[in-house]
Amino acid sequence: MKGEPLSSVLEQAVETPMVGKSVITLDDLSIRQIQELLHKAQYIDSHRKEVAHTCDGRVLATLFYEPSTRTRLSFETAMLRLGGKVIGFAGAQLASVTKGETISDTLKTVSNYVDVVAIRHPKEGAALVASRAASVPVINAGDGGHMHPTQTLADLATLQSRFGRVNNLTVGLCGDLTFGRTVHSLIETLCRFGNVNFVLISPDELKTPQYVLDRINATDSCSYTEVKDLVSVIGDLDVLYMTRVQKERFFNEDDYLRLRDTYILDEAKMAYAKKDMAVLHPLPRVNEIAVEVDDDPRAAYFEQVKNGMLMRMALESSVVGDELPGYEPLESK
Ligand code: CP
Repeated sequence: MKGEPLSSVLEQAVETPMVGKSVITLDDLSIRQIQELLHKAQYIDSHRKEVAHTCDGRVLATLFYEPSTRTRLSFETAMLRLGGKVIGFAGAQLASVTKGETISDTLKTVSNYVDVVAIRHPKEGAALVASRAASVPVINAGDGGHMHPTQTLADLATLQSRFGRVNNLTVGLCGDLTFGRTVHSLIETLCRFGNVNFVLISPDELKTPQYVLDRINATDSCSYTEVKDLVSVIGDLDVLYMTRVQKERFFNEDDYLRLRDTYILDEAKMAYAKKDMAVLHPLPRVNEIAVEVDDDPRAAYFEQVKNGMLMRMALESSVVGDELPGYEPLESK
């Protein structure tokens, strides 16, 4: 360890095994483990047949107390493509929570049935509560406006494939930076990789929470600026991460209606951007990216969708402890 940066030493000191691990935020994974997942996802993409029985006999539960298209379906597809099976519910109205059951009791129950759980819940901290009650690994599939770690894994895989790296980049995040949990997860994780210049683009009402800014301030190598105007900064960006204004987290319908169309990325604005800028969006989009941008080679948001499935395949197989046939770990290279 002599001569290594302190951050690297600390990363190694806090690393715990992947097998049996719950992932509530990406802080639960070391940088080395995140890099290994990125490497595994690349391997899975090019060895679909070879990995198709990796999780034979395993069962995943998807407990979704909030709507989802990509996250739930990709968690489920990931397990099915690895040879496992899936149970669960989509919509709390179908579960015993309607009879007053607590998250803890639900997780103590479901732990008897499955090998791994993915949970989405509207309340911040619900996934942590679930993980403490469960006897199998729990993966946070989004808890309120807090975190969405597997979306960040998809985002990192997309940056890696576009730039060959996830840092040494100027990353603009635009839209609802208050309630956008994908934004919070991504910033916190990029801060750990270091050397990222964040440009935080939002109206005053939707600025980045202080606890996330504190995380940037705590690094030696990352910085941020907060601005309101997208066009004035778009030419500086390597990455533009657009977000939807999170209607479901607003207390006041009038505020939502006033703010929802603050930013609309279209080809006229893209004309000011770098030729190799990447446009990311966790989806779903509403109006914030015009459909005409989909045909622009800089649009990377449907690549993110594919990467989300591959990263969830890598994560699910890792936490249940199933080796991908033929896979050589990054650390052995
Ligand atoms: N990105 C994302 O979380 O999408 P869903 O809400 O459709 O799962």
